[in-house]
Amino acid sequence: MEIITSVLPYILLLLSALILSYPLKLKKQKKQLKRNAKLPPGSMGWPYIGETIQLYSQDPNIFFATKQKRYGEIFKTHILGCPCVMLASPEAARFVLVTHAHLFKPTYPKSKEKMIGPNALFFHQGEYHTRIRKLVQSSLYPEAIRKKVADIEAVAVSALESWAAGDRKVINTFHEMKKFSFEVGVLSIFGHLDEYYKQKLKDNYCIVDKGYNSFPTKIPGTAYHKAILARERLGEVLGEIMRERKEKRVVDKDMLGQFMSFELEDDQGRGSSREDKVAADNVIGVLFAAQDTTASVLTWIFKYLHDDPKLLEAVKAEQMAIFKMNGGGKRPLTWAQTRNMPLTNKVILESLRMASIISFTFREAVVDVEYKGYLIPKGWKVMPLFRNIHHNPEFFPDPHIFDPSRFEVAPKPNTFMPFGSGVHSCPGNELAKLEILILIHHLITKFRWEIVGTQSGIQYGPFPVPQHGLPIRIWKDSSGEVQDGCL
Ligand code: HEM
Repeated sequence: MEIITSVLPYILLLLSALILSYPLKLKKQKKQLKRNAKLPPGSMGWPYIGETIQLYSQDPNIFFATKQKRYGEIFKTHILGCPCVMLASPEAARFVLVTHAHLFKPTYPKSKEKMIGPNALFFHQGEYHTRIRKLVQSSLYPEAIRKKVADIEAVAVSALESWAAGDRKVINTFHEMKKFSFEVGVLSIFGHLDEYYKQKLKDNYCIVDKGYNSFPTKIPGTAYHKAILARERLGEVLGEIMRERKEKRVVDKDMLGQFMSFELEDDQGRGSSREDKVAADNVIGVLFAAQDTTASVLTWIFKYLHDDPKLLEAVKAEQMAIFKMNGGGKRPLTWAQTRNMPLTNKVILESLRMASIISFTFREAVVDVEYKGYLIPKGWKVMPLFRNIHHNPEFFPDPHIFDPSRFEVAPKPNTFMPFGSGVHSCPGNELAKLEILILIHHLITKFRWEIVGTQSGIQYGPFPVPQHGLPIRIWKDSSGEVQDGCL
């Protein structure tokens, strides 16, 4: 005891010295990092505009691929007024998104944040993000979505019937898939929503969607300004829906119910306007995250299946077996059946790889970071390039060939990230795959389709989709059973 009391003052002195010298040590480390590490190779282009024109005047994937060929897997550039470091290796993507995610924060232009709503989870990091993410995930786990199979099936069947109605009219696949994925998004958030509210949401969301990628300006009449006004109306509609639930004392366990149970720690009492804003911003955020992504992948699947008649036959055989098991489609699809469509599942994975509709994501370094001897300065944007990784022949031989059989073997760790990775990875991935499987089942067992006009080319809006949204004609297979050599 005596020994302890005699050495205690020295230990305390030592500890205080360590604590006081810590900021100095950090500063020294930072200086050292700046001295030792160099910026990655690459070109910063013209002052201010950097290489923005080079990126947007061509297929962005050519820009990234050319850079990677020239500089390797880590390179710097300057786009949209920001210095950036682009990372094209699985290890680098894991470093930014998983192991060192705390050194990088999500970053979006202010205009986009305003449009979705600043409380939406993907703009945040840390405790708030974790809490909201848990709420979102709880409605998207397999245990929750398995109860939605019948509802999604009803939406899929009704959509297919409407596309095939009329005298072989031409439909824009991407636009129609957007409507389908919106309906499924609404189902996953609200369960069965009153038609009156659904229509109001659709009308206003459509205006937001049109203005989202337009030039941000307050000038009345512009697409951006119209979208901002429609966004305000969306907030009002969601406010009405929540008020009605509260008045009727409806306690639903759906995603909106989860958001409505969220309480801000610093708020006085429930139902404050800030809490309603958190709910509204996140509902719009999820609708936004769910729609164009799923619709783009579905559009590519229509094209990939159409372009490969042999593969189509094989997928058809898999789906027809289930169709027959269900009495020629008289009984509904079951969750277990959707879990047992191995080939169709591989087609989805290969479509996700091949199209890589989210080619990259953005983060921002919150401190100076050193990666493999290179400096990523604080404030610089960091872009893990998913598409470059998915198209690297080292991980996916003959990457430009559509070959679902490559997924018979699991890809190497961190080489396949269509849904991102780490704390911000996609919580909707199981729902996305489920709705795609259900739509494919009904499409292939009861309908045929053909592509109208040009069959090549890609447009970016901003996700890559086949040119003109892939115009197609779709019709019911009157034989009741799809025959060989169709399409
Ligand atoms: C095939 C369709 C989809 C693809 C390819 C996709 C892809 C992605 C990717 C790559 C991310 C991560 C972005 C990043 O790290 O910056 C993400 C995040 C997200 N996705 Fe998806 N997604 C799809 C469908 C969905 C669906 C159907 C929903 C909801 C019903 C959804 C909700 C979200 C949300 C809320 C986030 C943000 C998560 C967070 O920040 O914690 N996604 N998605």
